[in-house]
Amino acid sequence: MTGMTTFPTFPPFPLSLTLDSMAEVIPIGSDHAGYQLKERLVEELRALGYEPLDLGTHSPESTDYPDYAHRVASRVEHDDASRGVLLCGTGLGMSYTANRHPGVRAAVAWSPEVARLAREHNDANILILPARFVSEDEGVEILQTWLDTQFEGGRHRLRVAKIDKERE
Ligand code: RB5
Repeated sequence: MTGMTTFPTFPPFPLSLTLDSMAEVIPIGSDHAGYQLKERLVEELRALGYEPLDLGTHSPESTDYPDYAHRVASRVEHDDASRGVLLCGTGLGMSYTANRHPGVRAAVAWSPEVARLAREHNDANILILPARFVSEDEGVEILQTWLDTQFEGGRHRLRVAKIDKERE
């Protein structure tokens, strides 16, 4: 047929590339105690359309939680990522370490309810999972709740701001 018009395709590059480059990068790290659940959460993040940045550990061998807490928290501190995820046995070692980074508010959440409140009231920008005290499925639910919940602002904004004020 003559005179047929061809239109340029839009976007002018593969759609998968567009979607990949728009995905939010979420740094994630664990020690050996959180390794198994971290592997599952990396898959879940990908399935949910995020781009997990797996900063280790990469095996179940015994290792030191501060190494991974610093890696993830540094990225949030320096605005390379707006939020991150950490896992260890109790969540405590990760929280002590991550919360030393200015601007980081790392919350240990052992239930979806705690994860929701950590976002609504405390604007938690790092989620910490106590891997020895939650099942894999609970871990996934906690992660999803934390990802989907917004900070409430209002009176909570003032309180969160006070965290970084000088101590009396
Ligand atoms: C490792 O055995 C354990 O101490 C660690 O995962 C974490 O619970 C520390 O706070």
